[in-house]
Amino acid sequence: MTDNKLQFRIATLEDAPQVQQLVQSAFRAEDSRPDWTSDMDLSLRFTMKLEDVIAQISKPHGDILIAVQDDAIVGSVEVSKRNEDEGRVSMLAVDQSRQRGGLGRELLGHAEEYCVRIWAVKKLSLGALSSRQELIKWYMRRGYHKTGVTTPFPRDLFKDLTLADDLCFIELEKPVDETINT
Ligand SMILES: CC(C)(COP(=O)(O)OP(=O)(O)OC[C@H]1O[C@@H](n2cnc3c(N)ncnc32)[C@H](O)[C@@H]1OP(=O)(O)O)[C@@H](O)C(=O)NCCC(=O)NCCS
Repeated sequence: MTDNKLQFRIATLEDAPQVQQLVQSAFRAEDSRPDWTSDMDLSLRFTMKLEDVIAQISKPHGDILIAVQDDAIVGSVEVSKRNEDEGRVSMLAVDQSRQRGGLGRELLGHAEEYCVRIWAVKKLSLGALSSRQELIKWYMRRGYHKTGVTTPFPRDLFKDLTLADDLCFIELEKPVDETINT
């Protein structure tokens, strides 16, 4: 019998090709929310390599959590133990047809709970592209704040695109508190 309820689980190596497809297509998809995706020319160049998905699944201190419905992967997020205190969340992606229904928020919550339960971290961190103002505000509504640290965007890989001079990655953090239930 097929269970069509939405379920969350850790991705296995068998899931890797589907995760790669989902993440790549979610990051490349056009989104009508203003300042959510920002630069489509840049988004279309987003590439997720299968070998990187496999490496993340195989890491001793890293995993990929997936949301599955009707045997299809509809959402995915990478989690890693960055150091003793810090859990890193990255590559959060929801299938385009499932976006805006609260799944992104739910997956992010699962990722946070996982980092706290498995690695007992004291804070969570992530990075977002500076041009994605509405997405950054969304993270801030989830309890993240800007640390003031930025990391450079690899402009050299996109010399043919016109990019904002100040394009960079904004570091965001969230302390672990009672709002993250384990
Ligand atoms: C980021 C992402 C995972 C969010 O997933 P999602 O399932 O759409 O997220 P949710 O449904 O939980 O939240 C959607 C938010 O958009 C807001 N929203 C919906 N329609 C909107 C609109 N027309 N304009 C502005 N905001 C809107 C909702 O209010 C909600 O915010 P809230 O939860 O604070 O109310 C998804 O957009 C995605 O996969 N994007 C491509 C990959 C990506 O960019 N990942 C992040 C990299 S840092």
